Amino acid sequence: MNKVIITAQELHRGYKVGKKTVEVLKGIDLEILQGEKVFLCGPSGAGKTTLMYTLAGLEVPDRGEVLIEDQNLYTLSKRKQSKLRNAKMSYIFQNYYLLPELTAIENVLVPALIGGKDRQKEAKEILTRVGLSHRLDHLPAELSGGEQQRVAIARALVNDPQIIFADEPTGNLDSKNGSEVMNMLLELSDEYNATLVVVTHDPELAKLGDRVLTVTDGKID
Ligand SMILES: Nc1ncnc2c1ncn2[C@@H]1O[C@H](COP(=O)(O)OP(=O)(O)O)[C@@H](O)[C@H]1O
Ligand SMILES: [Mg+2]
Repeated sequence: MNKVIITAQELHRGYKVGKKTVEVLKGIDLEILQGEKVFLCGPSGAGKTTLMYTLAGLEVPDRGEVLIEDQNLYTLSKRKQSKLRNAKMSYIFQNYYLLPELTAIENVLVPALIGGKDRQKEAKEILTRVGLSHRLDHLPAELSGGEQQRVAIARALVNDPQIIFADEPTGNLDSKNGSEVMNMLLELSDEYNATLVVVTHDPELAKLGDRVLTVTDGKID
């Protein structure tokens, strides 16, 4: 039995819109196991992104707790939170968020630089693994959407993360590129023994994981 790597307890999060607060997460409890591939599903506006960001250390909950292994994420100092995120977590977004002035390999090296590690060799290997050995020195603008997302996948792996969070990672891709990218992400998560948490509104894609958590009206069924 694998150990629990992410625990959420009674997570609440709302947004102030004018004078009103809109409740988005209304008390979410969950546990995700080491190595598990979990899809967060649900309709647009259901709170999937808010939930993922809250689990990922990117969005502070109003109430409730997130534990990464046995560390209580939001009671750590900002500095320790950043360190934990850099060492254990990585992120993939719908819009890739590559730095436009940096080449593919330089983009992949950013998390390693932040962590003070020399990963030149690994970066090249991972880019080769995602089929981009001929694109190492290209800028994002010189790459297709699918290629940019593969660079983002390589960047997500360079620090050998324990958890990869992905928010609609295939949302900007056509179905062929989208399924290639999703399959690559699932395969590489296995190879790197990483836990994968993916947000999608596509129930077909969600079937590819180990477990689907559906967010409905701010809760998980
Ligand atoms: N920064 C924000 N300010 C105000 N409302 C927000 C903010 N972020 C998200 N929301 C609202 O919270 C709800 C859930 O958003 P989100 O988590 O992005 O949903 P999903 O990813 O499932 O589409 C939506 O109604 C959205 O409009
Ligand atoms: Mg979203």
